Amino acid sequence: MEKKVVVAVVCVAAVAGAVAAAAVMKRKMKRDKRWAKAMEIVKEMEEKCGTPIGKLKQVADAMVVEMHAGLASEGGSKLKMLISYVDNLPTGIVLCVGSWWNKLSCIEGAVGGKDVGLVNQEFTEVSIPPNLMIGTSDALFDYIAAELAKFVAQEGQEFELPPGKHRELGFTFSFPVMQTSIASGTLVRWTKGFSIDDAVGEDVVAELTRAMKRQGLDMRVSALVNDTVGTLAGGKYSNKDVAAAVILGTGSNAAYVESAPAIPKWHGDLPKSGEMVINMEWGNFKSSHLPLTEYDHAMDDESLNPGEQIFEKLISGMYLGEIVRRVLLKMAEEAAFFGDIVPPKLKTPFILRTPDMSAMHHDASSDLILVEKKLKDVLEISNTSLQTRKVVVELCNIVATRGSRLAAAGILGILKKIGRDIVKDGDEQRTVIAMDGGLYEHYSEYSKCLENTLNELLGEEVSKTIMIEHANDGSGIGAALLAASHSLYL
Ligand code: BGC
Repeated sequence: MEKKVVVAVVCVAAVAGAVAAAAVMKRKMKRDKRWAKAMEIVKEMEEKCGTPIGKLKQVADAMVVEMHAGLASEGGSKLKMLISYVDNLPTGIVLCVGSWWNKLSCIEGAVGGKDVGLVNQEFTEVSIPPNLMIGTSDALFDYIAAELAKFVAQEGQEFELPPGKHRELGFTFSFPVMQTSIASGTLVRWTKGFSIDDAVGEDVVAELTRAMKRQGLDMRVSALVNDTVGTLAGGKYSNKDVAAAVILGTGSNAAYVESAPAIPKWHGDLPKSGEMVINMEWGNFKSSHLPLTEYDHAMDDESLNPGEQIFEKLISGMYLGEIVRRVLLKMAEEAAFFGDIVPPKLKTPFILRTPDMSAMHHDASSDLILVEKKLKDVLEISNTSLQTRKVVVELCNIVATRGSRLAAAGILGILKKIGRDIVKDGDEQRTVIAMDGGLYEHYSEYSKCLENTLNELLGEEVSKTIMIEHANDGSGIGAALLAASHSLYL
């Protein structure tokens, strides 16, 4: 009898053990299945984001075709190729105000003689409150004018004007503007999350001038300048080899020096210099060669400007983090990548900013401690395994690599258009690209990849003739110099 009981107990224990083992096995199988699904999503993303050299060359060629079309006629291409009315370079006393994405900066400079740059500068920067980015035109321009008034009120004595002269202003406006002269132009559309309907189609200089009057500021805008054009002017002023400027920041764009006869849509007198700076607005470039994924399409559909700024949405700082978030969300929803519950924060659009993505991508610690911290602080995801964190880094790499390689293809397009993608016999002409923007400046994996890709595209011999130079806030200085060169008092 006793023996039977023992046998029965042993049997029960064995069955319980088997059940537990089966449960463990089941859980493991479930985990493996989820992991495999997550990896499938990453792999698919990697494939779809592929940018082999052949594809990049196709993108560059498509860019050249669109550049020609945009120069041929107004509306001839998605690439606006806007005429900047900048055909010469700088000197006076100038004040410059620039508005970027959510920042407004004022630089004041005293400009010396013909060969002297800004001899004195004062600089201040303030954020544009988010509600003004989607409010009314008057509210935005009143804010800019009020900040300008504050800046002028605290300026140093060295900026005092001689009697009878008014202060002049270079206005950097980092949005697409159809210029009607060096100091006037209508806003084509907003980008980068701005949406102020009553400003579209209006002359932004007239809007600012009215706002300055309301503030009692006696000033005249003598140059209206896109940030790329300002960067180009500032860059070229210090280095004559500068032929183009690229901004890789919240948004992205490029400007370059075009030969005036190569602009069929220009019907005015040919400028004496024979050249004209073109604001490409390359952010709006679109081509069937661009490697777009389901995440890009969804982000575009849900954006304030669907169908527009497709190139910008692939390469610029406003969007890279958001693309990563979208992939992570799909992995959380379809592969329980972060556990059984989808982390609620992961559902918030634009919560993962590109600087956070960059910090994760650059995490050099062996246990990816920074990735762990960012996932926790930004997305409230804790207890991630090292394996999970590695995948997050891999995803950042996929998205940043695609963006930077495409940006390099864009630069190749410009070099092709101006005939600097080849070295002619005996010609050792150097070509410098002035580069600015927080993405380029702070996301070193991105900038490194961009430079390597450009070298790869150009080949060894040509690469030696092309330099990328970082122009730190070149756009404000350039705008100030342009304002000076178009001064009423010269
Ligand atoms: C704007 C451009 C600007 C670029 C960089 C884009 O979104 O359309 O005008 O140059 O951002 O700031």
